[in-house]
Amino acid sequence: MSDYIKLCKVSDLPNRRGRKFTIAEDTDIAVFRVGEKIYAVSNICPHNQSEFMYDGYVDEELYLACPIHGWQFSLESGKVPLGCTGLSAKLETYKVKIENDEVWVEVKEKKKKWFW
Ligand code: FES
Repeated sequence: MSDYIKLCKVSDLPNRRGRKFTIAEDTDIAVFRVGEKIYAVSNICPHNQSEFMYDGYVDEELYLACPIHGWQFSLESGKVPLGCTGLSAKLETYKVKIENDEVWVEVKEKKKKWFW
């Protein structure tokens, strides 16, 4: 079972810059606005478990580069770019919806917590 929790207003997200949100005691996500679209992914890099994906760089093809070693992951699917053989790692993605200028993210029931 899953549900959505409110994160912030759309206008609280700077274009192409990430923001970190804690959605459960042990779960941080990185949220990015690129133009009119919003993406939410795990804040933990699959490469070395670093917790800095929110500070990564988003390129024109919507790949997010981890700021630690530069591994890239699609903001849409969490997959690495085509041609990156040997990289089976995948960044966890979260469904996002926008209602009345508010950003909501889908959270599995076990991760849900009260959020402002
Ligand atoms: S920790 Fe992210 S690329 Fe190495």
